[in-house]
Amino acid sequence: MKKILIVANWKCNPSTLKEAKELFNSVEKGIKNVKNVEVIICPPFTFLGNIEYKTSNIKLGAQDCFWEVRGAFTGEISPTMLKNLGAEYVILGHSERRKYQKETDGMVNKKMKAVISAGLKPILCVANLSQLEESSKGISEKIIVAYEPVFAIGTGKPCPPETAKKMRDKIDYPRVLYGGSVNSQNAGNYIKEAGFEGLLIGGASLASKEFIEIVKGVDFISKT
Ligand code: PGA
Repeated sequence: MKKILIVANWKCNPSTLKEAKELFNSVEKGIKNVKNVEVIICPPFTFLGNIEYKTSNIKLGAQDCFWEVRGAFTGEISPTMLKNLGAEYVILGHSERRKYQKETDGMVNKKMKAVISAGLKPILCVANLSQLEESSKGISEKIIVAYEPVFAIGTGKPCPPETAKKMRDKIDYPRVLYGGSVNSQNAGNYIKEAGFEGLLIGGASLASKEFIEIVKGVDFISKT
C-alpha cells in the first residue's frame, strides 16, 4: 500500500534559521514512529541547504523554482540548484504565486517540465480542472496533484470533504492531495471520506504540536 503524503508548505516563514531548525527538529522527533505517512517539508529556499535532513525520515521540497537551469535570470532559483541542496519535491503553481507573481498555466507548465527533467517530483497545485489540464500539458508522468480551492486557503474555511470528494473523483491521477485550512480536527476526513492520498498543509504546519497531531492522526487511520 502506498504511503499517504503529508506536505508542509511553510510559505514565507519563519524569519530565522534558528526557528526553522527548531520547527524541523521538533516535527522530526514527534513523528519518529510514524510508518504509514511520508512527510515532506517545504521551507523557504534559504533554509533548504541548512537543515540536517540526511539523518531524517522527512523529505525536503521547495515551494517554487524557475524553468531554466542557469543563466541571466536575476532572482531565480533553478531545479538543479534545488536538487543539489537535497530537495526531492517542488510545489508548483500555488494559488498565491498565481495571484501575487501572476504565474500563468503556461509558466507553470514550463516549470513542471524543467523540474521533471532535473529528476525532481513536482506537486502541482490547482484550483480547478482547467488549471490541471493546462499546467500538465505534454506531461505523461504520474505527477502529484494538489487540489486547493482558493476560498479554503489560509481562511480557516475548509472545503467540506463531500465537496472535495467530487473533485477528487474527477482527477485521473493516482496521487491527489487536498489543501486548504487543514487542521488536526478535519485532516482524517479528507483521507477517509474524500479519498485523497495526502494533504498539503500551510498554516497548521508552522505549529509543530498541531502538525505532529495531524501526521499521527492520519498514520493511525491509515492502519485501520
Ligand atoms: P493553509 O494553506 O493550510 O494555510 O490553508 C494551504 C496551502 O496554501 O497550501
